[in-house]
Amino acid sequence: MSDSPLYSCDRVWINARLATMDTAVPALYGALDDHVIGVRSGKIAAIEPMERVAIDRLNGTVIDAGGAWITPGLIDCHTHTVYGGNRAKEIEMRLCGASYEDIARQGGGILATVRATRALDEEQLRRASLPRLRALAAEGVTTVEIKSGYGLTLADELKMLRVARRIADDAPVRISTTLLAAHTVPWEYAGRPDDYIELVCNQIIPAAAAKHLVDAVDLFCERIAFSPEQCARVFAAAQNHGLRVKAHAEQLSNQGGARLAARFSALSADHLEYLDQSGVDALAASGTVAVLLPGAFYFLREPQKPPVDLLRAAGVPIAVASDLNPGTSPLASLRLMLNMACTLFGLTPEESLAGATRHAAQALGLAENLGTLAVGKEADFLVWDIEHPAELACEFGVPRLRQRVFQGRDATV
Ligand code: NIG
Ligand code: FE
Repeated sequence: MSDSPLYSCDRVWINARLATMDTAVPALYGALDDHVIGVRSGKIAAIEPMERVAIDRLNGTVIDAGGAWITPGLIDCHTHTVYGGNRAKEIEMRLCGASYEDIARQGGGILATVRATRALDEEQLRRASLPRLRALAAEGVTTVEIKSGYGLTLADELKMLRVARRIADDAPVRISTTLLAAHTVPWEYAGRPDDYIELVCNQIIPAAAAKHLVDAVDLFCERIAFSPEQCARVFAAAQNHGLRVKAHAEQLSNQGGARLAARFSALSADHLEYLDQSGVDALAASGTVAVLLPGAFYFLREPQKPPVDLLRAAGVPIAVASDLNPGTSPLASLRLMLNMACTLFGLTPEESLAGATRHAAQALGLAENLGTLAVGKEADFLVWDIEHPAELACEFGVPRLRQRVFQGRDATV
């Protein structure tokens, strides 16, 4: 008993109920009642049942959780948190009958945000984006993926990535950055999408990789963005620079983007409203995570849901993310997404929480260090004032976060 790592921990939470979300723990939520979790040097060092612990021999700070639930820190694995301006006018246009695609074809949509983002310098962009990051973090998000994609020149894409990398200097959140230069064709390349793809492959990807500004490469495979052939060139260039890939796929139509992503062993394929059985099978075979984005589905009032039953039947890991962006999901709340994943897509509360923890970590290639409560992982976790973890997907808007622990330390936002 005395040689348990628990006795050399810096901090120990006793009388805790752990929703480990670890598949090695057979109960729903990977739940462990009456347990102790200990932290050392920012990592989870021990998880033990209360009855095996000699409390008086603990050396570190002891925190009595009093039976409270502890979950892993939430992970928002798909966001566009860094951008300038807003697109509130577009919701008026859409409610008057224009579609998202109509607005994009008229030079609005993504390009409207490109104009607003290019107009800001790094400090202005950081200040515009930080409140959004703080909103996510305040409700329990400890890791956020942030994409570029509103610069669409070499300089502006790198500017976005630099802002994304350093935005967290002021906030206790881990950031994973994704290059989304292939988001849409900028006006300088109107009618010449292949020339723009060449710029992405030959200049933007190499520069972002050389400067270590990027953890993965994303793209938008869609009628209003890029064809599967063009996307394949971007994926190949990313892989030549040792970068994992992911895709916005099957959001507005079925282009076969998920199948293509699977062919390149993508970390994730995201949106997926129009995914078919062949796409599901491809994701299952490649181990690619299906990232569902109920905020965009809701905000665009999409007519078709992603095929959750097919994904489940095929055993595809399902993540849930906010897609926080000005055009399709101006909603800075991962808790709201858990709720909508259940009410709109039919996930269970346990599936939705797995989607914002274990599977979200997998979608970022970070499953070894994040996403569950397990010995050796980063000590990012949350102590909640709730009776049951299902409340995290059920109730919305009431602050229930008692303690936010980031790298083993208290880190309120
Ligand atoms: O994830 N689908 C493409 N990209 C974003 C929307 C970007 C925008 O409209 O600004 C999305 O929905
Ligand atoms: Fe997105």
